[in-house]
Amino acid sequence: MKKDTVTVVDNASGRQIELPVKHPTQGPSVVDIGSFYRELGYFTYDPGFLSTASCQSSITYIDGEQGILQYRGYPIEQLATQSSFLEVTYLMLNGELPNPTQLDEFSGIINHHSMLNESLKSFFRGFYHDAHPMAIMVGVVGSLSAFYNDSTDITDPHHREVAAHRMIAKMPSIAAASFKHTIGEPQVYPGLSYTGNLLKMMFSVPCEEYHVDPVAERALDLIFILHIDHEQNASTSTVRLAGSSQANPFACIASGIAALWGPAHGGANEAVLNMLGEIGDVKNIPEYLARAKDKNDPFRLMGFGHRVYKNYDPRARIIREMCHEVLAKLGDNNDPMFELALRLEEIALNDDYFIKRKLYPNVDFYSGLIYRALGIPGNMFTVMFAIARTVGWVAQWMEMIGEENQRIGRPRQLYVGAGQRDYVPIDKR
Ligand SMILES: CC(C)(COP(=O)(O)OP(=O)(O)OC[C@H]1O[C@@H](n2cnc3c(N)ncnc32)[C@H](O)[C@@H]1OP(=O)(O)O)[C@@H](O)C(=O)NCCC(=O)NCCS
Repeated sequence: MKKDTVTVVDNASGRQIELPVKHPTQGPSVVDIGSFYRELGYFTYDPGFLSTASCQSSITYIDGEQGILQYRGYPIEQLATQSSFLEVTYLMLNGELPNPTQLDEFSGIINHHSMLNESLKSFFRGFYHDAHPMAIMVGVVGSLSAFYNDSTDITDPHHREVAAHRMIAKMPSIAAASFKHTIGEPQVYPGLSYTGNLLKMMFSVPCEEYHVDPVAERALDLIFILHIDHEQNASTSTVRLAGSSQANPFACIASGIAALWGPAHGGANEAVLNMLGEIGDVKNIPEYLARAKDKNDPFRLMGFGHRVYKNYDPRARIIREMCHEVLAKLGDNNDPMFELALRLEEIALNDDYFIKRKLYPNVDFYSGLIYRALGIPGNMFTVMFAIARTVGWVAQWMEMIGEENQRIGRPRQLYVGAGQRDYVPIDKR
């Protein structure tokens, strides 16, 4: 009879154990190794978590081989083309799409929480003028727990909900204030739609009228939908790990922002533009392609490849279209960076090295170009990502805290350091 178990045999001792298999609604089944150490005395070793599911979740589903991404079961393609950022945000937090009244109410709540406590503003003044906006984000978002401690009791579902709404609502205001600080302009108060509001807070000044460009607003809304969640990536896993110690939600999201910052994760979109700047000219592309292929050269083509998508990033397909539309409507025709990027895209897509390894341009390649066309500077790219991903972090954190048997995350290790040895007094060394 077919059994729903996997048997592991320890060839050293001859002992064997039977491990239960758990089945998901979609995707590969998992082997429950909870009894592995107790039964066999071994830990399992999986650096980078290439084969390990760290939790159970019903938020986002990815099939990297097929290039599938779904939020709460809905294909990303449908949400990206037919929905709005706040509608998808509601879906992520509540599990179902809102009806018109629910969406209206939810938009009102988010708008209500979008202002920052006036005292929080003095935090921005404490940062040096050339501080990286991500450095400001990590600090200021962490400090929210000092301002909104009436919503940090994680055992109270109402506190959790208010904290979630506050973080999602305040991220654009904090991001725009970080940007305004670095360019020495006054902060602008919120209003308008979620993404229109962000554009206004970033680009308007008190002495001039400002109109949000609908193409820019829609492009930003689309990018934000695509970036909302990506199941257990590095920053989301960081948020879950921090949250598993029962740290307050503002501190957990700050830890997610820190993890997102690196160029192998959310920093990639900024790295794409830096790389294009380094390549400098279409004529230099072959030289840089050769470097990317050279195992002895640490140079990699930023914005190409993905840990999970080994076929094609479905978000890249959607955003690619928007990128071409935005460049045609808002792109500076004299900006050599755009020509360089599109040429690099074309050459790499037809290059054997990249085809064989299934290295396609990822979502960060195109989002960086769109941000540039919208006039958003490179050091703000990862901040944009952080605003959108806050929804995913918050949804994942809420899911985890709501679990019945939630335990602190505590991975094991394969120790390879010195064996036990005796202390030698300093005069004998
Ligand atoms: C995203 C990334 C970290 C995924 O890494 P990974 O899943 O560990 O993939 P690997 O490092 O195992 O790469 C597989 C092969 O492709 C090559 N490769 C992967 N990404 C590459 C890139 N961007 N440029 C050149 N070669 C690349 C590797 O050298 C390796 O070649 P090999 O099989 O000959 O040794 C990696 O592709 C990368 O660094 N990309 C650039 C940064 C980026 O855009 N990050 C944003 C992700 S959304």
